[in-house]
Amino acid sequence: MAGDDHATHETIERYERIWVGFSLILIVMFVALVFYAVSMHGAHIGHAEPRQDPQKILAMDEFANPGVVQTGDNSYQVNMVAMAFSFVPGQIEIPAGSEVTFRMTSRDVIHGFQVRGTGINVELIPGDIASLKYTFDRPGEYLMICNQYCGVAHQNMLGRIVVTDPDAVVAEADEPTLEPEDADWRGAAESAYNAQCAACHQRDGSGSRGAFPPLADHMPALVVPEGGRDYLIDVVLYGLAGAIEVKGVSYRGMMPGMARLSDADVAATLNHALHAWGNEDALPEGFEPITREEVEQRRGLGLSPADVLEQRQSLRLD
Ligand code: CUA
Repeated sequence: MAGDDHATHETIERYERIWVGFSLILIVMFVALVFYAVSMHGAHIGHAEPRQDPQKILAMDEFANPGVVQTGDNSYQVNMVAMAFSFVPGQIEIPAGSEVTFRMTSRDVIHGFQVRGTGINVELIPGDIASLKYTFDRPGEYLMICNQYCGVAHQNMLGRIVVTDPDAVVAEADEPTLEPEDADWRGAAESAYNAQCAACHQRDGSGSRGAFPPLADHMPALVVPEGGRDYLIDVVLYGLAGAIEVKGVSYRGMMPGMARLSDADVAATLNHALHAWGNEDALPEGFEPITREEVEQRRGLGLSPADVLEQRQSLRLD
């Protein structure tokens, strides 16, 4: 019957109008939410430059010598290289309120760069330079994390941004020298180790199976053979590449060279690893902690990570 058809038709049209209205409301809500998020947290989507040869990027001065550079009265540039499984630099200090430009790339696989408590979240791709600007207004510690699965020790790929209060008085004289004769060297050495080495070798020195060898119950054996002390210093300064074996387990993680650390920091991280976790009791009789002068003597030898591997093999540890 024609009358019924007409009524059905009207009902359907009414439902249609309701649904169209509902969808429009949803769209407006989504747009409003995006605006809200951007205005409250800021959008920090890394700006990527055109792809280049990864080796060319890594050879650029800013990435060959990554670190923090002051670029103005109140501005800094952080040149960072991500690699399995660390950010270099792994610890960054920035005064609150300064404008920070991050320039970042990856040396091996795709990593993520996320900074907790901020909107910073970028993908770091070999052959790409990601850059972004950010201003840390609140002093405190911010955790840098890799949020792209990049291998066995992905979950250990962490770093720290320390945002300092520029108004706080800095007591320079109280800075521990990290020298073994300094009464405070142990605490300072532990912080140096935790900042530089714990991401891979763990705070308890247990390492990561298959990637990074344990240091607990292993470091003392390394200072027994002649040349062992030099080898330890060289590993930290120049890094180590290639498979090694520790207690029957093969490790093939890449240790990055950390020549950017001061002589005192290199000595401190090693002394911590040599003394912590019960290692101290296993040290050879008459062992003297590694000094800053010893590190200074090994610097400038220009060794490659492959040279250091050869050096390790010559110790005949296994
Ligand atoms: Cu790098 Cu996950």
